[in-house]
Amino acid sequence: MGLKVFASHFLMAPMAGVTDEPFRARLRRWGCQGQWTEMVSAAALVRNHKKTHRMAAPSDLGGDTVIQLFGANPDELLPAAEILSDLGWLRVDFNMGCPVKKVTKSGAGAALMGDLKLAARCINAVRAGSRGVLTVKIRSGVTASRLNYIDAGRIAEGEGADGVILHARTKAQGYSGGADWSHIDALAGALGVPVAGNGDIESAQSAVSRLSEQPVGAVMIGRAALASPWIFRDAELLLRGLEALGKPGAKELSDDLSRHFEELVDFKGERGAIGEIKKFVAWSLTGVQGGSVARTRVMQIKEIEAMREFIESLSEVCQDTGGEG
Ligand SMILES: Cc1cc2nc3c(=O)[nH]c(=O)nc-3n(C[C@H](O)[C@H](O)[C@H](O)COP(=O)(O)O)c2cc1C
Repeated sequence: MGLKVFASHFLMAPMAGVTDEPFRARLRRWGCQGQWTEMVSAAALVRNHKKTHRMAAPSDLGGDTVIQLFGANPDELLPAAEILSDLGWLRVDFNMGCPVKKVTKSGAGAALMGDLKLAARCINAVRAGSRGVLTVKIRSGVTASRLNYIDAGRIAEGEGADGVILHARTKAQGYSGGADWSHIDALAGALGVPVAGNGDIESAQSAVSRLSEQPVGAVMIGRAALASPWIFRDAELLLRGLEALGKPGAKELSDDLSRHFEELVDFKGERGAIGEIKKFVAWSLTGVQGGSVARTRVMQIKEIEAMREFIESLSEVCQDTGGEG
């Protein structure tokens, strides 16, 4: 196969509604070298759902990008994985972590943590349809009293997964409470394949500390990268023993957001881009002086030129606060 299981030490987590092509391009500019798509539905892929097919055939297909598949029906997962292989994907990840009702009600995502027999058949099907690297992203268990990540990880390995990513929270926790990195330690000790740890990485320093102190092949970063995509550049710098550069200045941040916006316009059209960039602007304004006023203003913008001007004006409106942001 010749590919490393994890393309980088620092991975960008899959995030539905967030890690689309334009955001992935922006993350890449900030030094991210291993990123996930939004999850795509196996059922929608085999039924030729247009939007899903568009998500499955981005321009950054292949290389260090991983496409994440979800589903709970092996008869759909196998042909869906074949479709991805035929499109040219070299890295597929199977979702056993999503706690959202829309996904779990069909038995998919984190619901599979409660049915490891079905999970085994699903992973087997995705393996059979995939030609490249296969990883499985799991949670610690269904509830705190049913922590079965070791069993789930062993099943994934037994069915041919090349690596496992553990988001060390239970399905019941959703995104609340803390991630328990002792689970990640234990899983890495129990499996022969590489394990990546995920949950609550808040800074470039904590990403590097986890990587150095835990027996993991990679750490996956989610929410912290929304406000601070430069976390990837800084983590790489720190790993090499260099100093982190921290949050960019207001002008650089404004230029960065402008480019992200223009790429969103190309990708989603004006209306979609205006809706989408608002959340990124709001995240970028976290911890910035005058940020809350600017956040309120951006939410009211409806026209493309007004959005362009607003993003440009951020270089003057916002005072640099320094630090990692
Ligand atoms: C808005 C949002 C969307 C997400 N979408 C997905 C997804 O599609 N697939 C998945 O495996 N995890 C998804 N996750 C979970 C993240 O990949 C990650 O596991 C979680 O946020 C924990 O990492 P963090 O503490 O660094 O944010 C999502 C999380 C959020 C907040």
